[in-house]
Amino acid sequence: MDTDEPEIGIGIIERYQDQGLGRILMQELISHARAAAKPSVRLTVFVENERGRHLYAKLGFTERGRREVVRSERFAGRRMVLIEMGLQLPKEAPP
Ligand SMILES: CC(C)(COP(=O)(O)OP(=O)(O)OC[C@H]1O[C@@H](n2cnc3c(N)ncnc32)[C@H](O)[C@@H]1OP(=O)(O)O)[C@@H](O)C(=O)NCCC(=O)NCCS
Repeated sequence: MDTDEPEIGIGIIERYQDQGLGRILMQELISHARAAAKPSVRLTVFVENERGRHLYAKLGFTERGRREVVRSERFAGRRMVLIEMGLQLPKEAPP
């Protein structure tokens, strides 16, 4: 959180996916960034990750760009497209 625009990322192990935990974790991270007065947050998501893309879009993230990356040997050096997304965090109105 020591940058103007923190990069956030989560991972849910398979058997707990699609039960709303990702949303809760993301909302926590966004609240944390907002409390730290960050103007925005960013993340990256692989184009194939339809669940993640759905979740991030629903939370208000918008696409900023795409780039091709070469995965490590663990992923057989596959070329994949990574989407860069951002979310603006407007300052909350004073009470
Ligand atoms: C992507 C990930 C973080 C999402 O977390 P999660 O706990 O599974 O997500 P949630 O249950 O909170 O929300 C999932 C949403 O996607 C929707 N969804 C599920 N499968 C989908 C699919 N194939 N296409 C589109 N939407 C889908 C669900 O309906 C839900 O949306 P809704 O609330 O509008 O109904 C998690 O699945 C994950 O870690 N995946 C594997 C690793 C990974 O991709 N990490 C992120 C790297 S960018």
